[in-house]
Amino acid sequence: MMINIPDRSTFENAYADKAPWDIAGPQPAYVAIAGQITGSILDAGCGTGENALFFANGGHKVTGIDYLEEPIRRAKQKAAERRVPVNFLVMDALALATLPETFDSVIDSGLFHVFSDEDRKKYVAGLASVLKPSGRLYLMCFSDEEPGVVGPRRISKADLQAAFRDHWQIESVQPTHFEVIPAFSHVFTAGGPKAWFVIVKRIELGL
Ligand SMILES: C[S@@+](CC[C@H](N)C(=O)[O-])C[C@H]1O[C@@H](n2cnc3c(N)ncnc32)[C@H](O)[C@@H]1O
Repeated sequence: MMINIPDRSTFENAYADKAPWDIAGPQPAYVAIAGQITGSILDAGCGTGENALFFANGGHKVTGIDYLEEPIRRAKQKAAERRVPVNFLVMDALALATLPETFDSVIDSGLFHVFSDEDRKKYVAGLASVLKPSGRLYLMCFSDEEPGVVGPRRISKADLQAAFRDHWQIESVQPTHFEVIPAFSHVFTAGGPKAWFVIVKRIELGL
């Protein structure tokens, strides 16, 4: 089966046009769980920053990273216009270990599912280095229950279990939907592509 691994130009082209995920506000799944997310937050692959801005508006100290300059430029512009402080940085999420800060929580809305198997391992190792012990990752990815092949590769529960083994405890995997812009609503399952909302706790080995 062909696996769709988007590269940098895929994302550059998406932002030059209308990116399907770039909705006008935060993903509803994060709004629904916002009360459970504590402390400082890293938004990995933040795009134009709507989720990061939502949590910063709720009083969290938030850093948002994306490897493309254009979405970070737009995110900074929104932060200035809305007078909401967020530390937006152009940075590769495969280099998280170089971030000098650690976080209570990490959110990942649509990043994990873009990586190849090899990069997925690097990314998860980097997540362990930026999350404080007992910190949690709140991850939303395309689910293997979404039919078809349009969009990112589908992720199964077994994929999640394989990715988060040592140093991690998967606390929940719940079915949800990504919201996409109206122009893409006909492409996926009605109501938005089927997704998993995953909560993973970072644990210290030996504890
Ligand atoms: C599907 S979009 C989701 C954007 C945002 N989280 C949202 O919910 O609107 C994935 C984002 O990850 C970014 N991205 C892809 N690979 C990355 C990498 N290696 N490091 C940092 N950002 C990356 C893309 O530029 C894009 O903005």
